[in-house]
Amino acid sequence: MRQACFTLVLILSLFIASAYAQTNENGKKLFNNKRLGNSSNERSCNTCHPAGKGIDSAKFAAMDTNDASLKGIVNKCIEGPLMGKALPTESQEMNDIVQYIKSLGNQK
Ligand code: HEC
Repeated sequence: MRQACFTLVLILSLFIASAYAQTNENGKKLFNNKRLGNSSNERSCNTCHPAGKGIDSAKFAAMDTNDASLKGIVNKCIEGPLMGKALPTESQEMNDIVQYIKSLGNQK
């Protein structure tokens, strides 16, 4: 009985922890990837926004994941600073990056 109770508490705390730690690992990788959008230079998003610097992440955390303006900003930074090609707005890559950016806001 005691063991069952312990296991239950353990499972519950893991569940709560995962709900708070919403970092999208693939999005994080893409954020640090210098070849994102076939970038032709040595910059990644992280070059200018280390750990989300310069990004008003609280604002983005409150935005809808499918918000077109958020995806538009991401693509502007891919086409501009990264000198790459914009990602399709419905792609897995785009969704992962957006989720990663949004998760930065939850950490503060
Ligand atoms: C050469 C530096 C540079 C790189 C590389 C870069 N950005 Fe930016 N980014 C900026 C600047 C400058 C701004 C506008 C001013 C600001 O908010 O700091 C900006 C703004 C943003 C914003 C809006 C911030 C806000 O709060 O309104 C987002 C989101 C963003 N960038 C995401 C990205 C993503 C995703 C990547 C990678 C694809 C990226 N950036 C790569 C320089 C860069």
